[in-house]
Amino acid sequence: MPEMNRQVLLKRRPNGMPVPDDFSIVEGPLLEPGDGQVLLRGIYLSLDPYMRGRISGQRSYATPTKIGDVIEGRVVGQVTRSRHPGFREGDFAFGGYGWQTHSVVLGDALTKLDPTQAPLSTSLGILGMPGLTAYVGLKTIGQPKAGETVAVSAASGAVGAVAGQLASRDGCHVIGIAGGPDKCRYVTEELGFDGCVDHRRADLGAALEAACPKGIDVYFENVGGDVQRAVYPLLNDFGRMIMCGMIAEYNDATPRPGPSLVAAVRKRLKIQGFIVSDHAALRSEYLEMAAPLVRSGQLKYREDIVEGIDNAPEAFIGLLQGKNFGKLIIKLGADPTR
Ligand SMILES: NC(=O)c1ccc[n+]([C@@H]2O[C@H](COP(=O)([O-])OP(=O)(O)OC[C@H]3O[C@@H](n4cnc5c(N)ncnc54)[C@H](OP(=O)(O)O)[C@@H]3O)[C@@H](O)[C@H]2O)c1
Repeated sequence: MPEMNRQVLLKRRPNGMPVPDDFSIVEGPLLEPGDGQVLLRGIYLSLDPYMRGRISGQRSYATPTKIGDVIEGRVVGQVTRSRHPGFREGDFAFGGYGWQTHSVVLGDALTKLDPTQAPLSTSLGILGMPGLTAYVGLKTIGQPKAGETVAVSAASGAVGAVAGQLASRDGCHVIGIAGGPDKCRYVTEELGFDGCVDHRRADLGAALEAACPKGIDVYFENVGGDVQRAVYPLLNDFGRMIMCGMIAEYNDATPRPGPSLVAAVRKRLKIQGFIVSDHAALRSEYLEMAAPLVRSGQLKYREDIVEGIDNAPEAFIGLLQGKNFGKLIIKLGADPTR
């Protein structure tokens, strides 16, 4: 039987929390690469919260996925056919496209990976877009100083885990916010945060206040909703809110009533959003700093690897409900390096 390309397509736009029926799985023949292109066999596919925005059809900084199209995603894989002078069969590369087992992409858009330097999957997480997001948010907006208190939501996740560890390395008092005792234990015991508060507690505000006795100087916002409401009154004068994402609100069918931002004036708060793709220039600086720390084990990471493209829709729905524990990745095919 010839090898086929298996794809997950957007069947219809989700209303609220996505359901498996919003997606369809199809199979077709492999495409031949044209001049300058390569055929990449996917090994790892990154599942990320931003994909919820892409399938919603809302106007945003990026074009939405069309109904019937393969869903957007970043892939690490192995070159199986090349018509680009820079790539040979067997090379490992980052830059494959979409929720599918194979993709034909321009060689110029691929980055060759050396699996002896770091596991291939790390280029989707700690040494990829989520790690860079943490770095950009802290460097360009939060700018935490030694002795300040930094709170990080979704603290055990791909972005939050890096943000908190980097702030700890800057000498800050770092408090994570995560869902459930296992994640909170991981955040303090493995990642070395000074504390972690479970956002499922009924007394979230009081628990946060106790964990941050000097208030909060920098809040790395990944979640929004009730967590944001609990953090906001604890912000100190001249506090910085790094507006990275608000995953708790991505499935709202109707918008929530907004927070009162009156205190933003009284406290001279600076609240700024950012999109990591505007900061590609910081990528090499981040990798130079982070890659040796990952290799030496000083910067820790955790991956949640789910087998098989067919499980992508369910895993993605789980991500939007906090079921993932660490960077969520779909294993598309065999990884000969592990
Ligand atoms: N601005 C940018 O350029 C940029 C780039 C990358 C990512 N982001 C944003 O960064 C945030 C984190 O992304 P990530 O890739 O690192 O994901 P992640 O943290 O690895 O996974 C998502 C986590 O969000 C938490 N969560 C999900 N639903 C929630 C809810 N209803 N209430 C509270 N927490 C909930 C869960 O953790 P708990 O179980 O601990 O709650 C879940 O594990 C997202 O908001 C994402 O959109 C922004």
